[in-house]
Amino acid sequence: MGFVCGLFLLLTLPVLALTEVVTSFSTCPQFFWKDQNGKAVTPTIFTQVTNGYDHYQKICQRYKNLYQFATLYDTAHRIPVYSAFNFTGIQKCSRKNSWLIEPRLDDINGSPEMTTESNVKNLGQKQAINDDYDKTGYDKGHLYPVSQADDQCTAFATFTLTNAAPQHLRFNRGVWNQMERAVLNYMNTNCQLNNNIAYIVTGTVPSNPSKLMNNRVNIPKYFWNAFCCFDKNCKKWVSKAHKGPNDDTGTLLELSLNNLEAGLSQDYGQAFSVFGGQCQTDINKPIYHKP
Ligand SMILES: *[C@@H]1O[C@H](CO)[C@@H](O)[C@H](O)[C@H]1NC(C)=O
Repeated sequence: MGFVCGLFLLLTLPVLALTEVVTSFSTCPQFFWKDQNGKAVTPTIFTQVTNGYDHYQKICQRYKNLYQFATLYDTAHRIPVYSAFNFTGIQKCSRKNSWLIEPRLDDINGSPEMTTESNVKNLGQKQAINDDYDKTGYDKGHLYPVSQADDQCTAFATFTLTNAAPQHLRFNRGVWNQMERAVLNYMNTNCQLNNNIAYIVTGTVPSNPSKLMNNRVNIPKYFWNAFCCFDKNCKKWVSKAHKGPNDDTGTLLELSLNNLEAGLSQDYGQAFSVFGGQCQTDINKPIYHKP
């Protein structure tokens, strides 16, 4: 048995090192919060295997030969479940006006990096593409936002469609955007960013029954996020969460991580944790105020 396992590792490791669509997030642990033993803790990973294919694909998002963040992607709904990343401080990065896709979701022999859509075999079979959003009125709503990227290269890397879901434009450009800024400013002021870093996870809850964009892409019911960081004043790990319906009502809830997870577990129909059930100390004051 030991021999078989050893052989298996030898054969698979070189392949893992090259791919972006990975079999385990252990290829890019740097984007996940670490427990007391220094072990990377991922949010709950769903699996749903049909004929040997898992509808939930793990992506270590690679751009310019570097890992930039991690995404769990739902190929059945063609939207991400979540993107996970770390935050090291505010940077001023510019935006990009074109979006990339993840070649290996559609073609196992495609490029291991996010690329443009040209020359990808079976393009769009397992993911949303630019055409899906055209003239729909929906924004390509970033999960990992440009504003929280820690350098220009990472900011560009957020412009990949596996990091986006159809988002009502009033929601995206209104309360969601204001909340992102409030979280950013809070983390920048209160979190110890030099050696502990802050960890953020942003996700969606698919509409059910499915409401579709371009007959192919699920329009999420909710967007949510949570962050966990080491508070530099009270010297402990603390957290806060947000969620809002994907509509034009201007609704955005600020809640404890514990309450977010309770709601997500109900919505996903299975227990869901963002930081392995840890980092539960709530920041006991409002971060986001509706202007
Ligand atoms: C945060 O992410 C960057 C890549 O964007 C990585 O180089 C760094 O090691 C990460 N920080 C930690 C503490 O894991």
